[in-house]
Amino acid sequence: MTDAITIQNPRNRGGSTGHVLAKRSVTFTEIRTDARGYAPLRAAIATYLGISRGINCHPEQIFVCAGYRACLDLISHTLMGPGATCWLEEPGYFMARNALLEAGAQLVPVPVDDQGLDVAQGIARAPEAGFAVVTPTHQSPLGVSLSLPRRLALLDWANRQGSWIIEDDYDSEYRYQGKPLPALKSLDQQGRVLYTGTFSKVLFPGLRLAYLVVPAEQTAAFARQADRLHNHCPHLQQATVAAFLNEGHFARHLNKMRGLYARRRQWLVEALHQQVGGRLQIDPQAGGMHVVAGLGEGDDVQIARRAREVGIAVEPLSQWYLGDGGRQGLVMGFTNVVSAEQAVSVAVRLARVIA
Ligand SMILES: Cc1ncc(COP(=O)(O)O)c(C=O)c1O
Repeated sequence: MTDAITIQNPRNRGGSTGHVLAKRSVTFTEIRTDARGYAPLRAAIATYLGISRGINCHPEQIFVCAGYRACLDLISHTLMGPGATCWLEEPGYFMARNALLEAGAQLVPVPVDDQGLDVAQGIARAPEAGFAVVTPTHQSPLGVSLSLPRRLALLDWANRQGSWIIEDDYDSEYRYQGKPLPALKSLDQQGRVLYTGTFSKVLFPGLRLAYLVVPAEQTAAFARQADRLHNHCPHLQQATVAAFLNEGHFARHLNKMRGLYARRRQWLVEALHQQVGGRLQIDPQAGGMHVVAGLGEGDDVQIARRAREVGIAVEPLSQWYLGDGGRQGLVMGFTNVVSAEQAVSVAVRLARVIA
């Protein structure tokens, strides 16, 4: 995002050249803020989703929100009644858990195994739930992908039940082996999936820029709530990101980062195997921006706290569980490990902390 832009107010055309931020020119096509998001960005996202995620949608179905949390708020204001029952992956993303609890939802933890969310368990525990929140491409935090039979079973349940599936596709762009998996939304024939994506992982979190794709029949209801909440990212940022996508920088950026992150992941995994292999079970999954390492023994909360004291930011896996007795382990980002030497230094410090 180093390119420069000029913001031109169409009202000033032919007069002043607008407010010059840098070299290139982005012309706003609207003057009034549209709470659904900046129209050219919504169009660019629709094109991107069609090409990269197999999602066939119209820009009218897209709502730009200030982050994933804001997407959940928009969904809960539009579709969730008080006390709505909601399946949540166990373990699962704590931010979603908190947002849904604040929205008054009743959360039902549904276990995740090596095929992703255990749909049969969800049906056994809460067959009439109104919502299921899932991370099908790269389960957060375990990293597994939801298998095709499970995807079909989940859609089948939602179709029969008239329930909503909230698909959180937060870091699907990063996959290091095999073909990229299409989104669950691409299989949704009956419009039961509310799809969310974010620019936090692929660009940077400070942008606060995410998007929600809703079924065509729901666009009016969502637009009313979006207008009421006005919970959007500033249009200047939206215009910049639209230009970034439309001019091809985004695709180049992703290609570059995939190669870079694959190397960084390899450095960290190799160093962990060498330095702490006996104490951690490291199982890198096909994609994502973090690795998860199971702890044979020890308290992951204590270890994560001590690791932070020596400058290593790891998350305790047990805290991603809603219920008690979650697996002990460490969730470790690798994208800021810039060399093999640095990976070894991190692993050596972590080994000392664990010992
Ligand atoms: C599982 C998961 N979903 C969504 C997000 C994106 O959140 P946001 O768009 O609010 O930055 C993240 C970011 O860390 C995440 O880990």
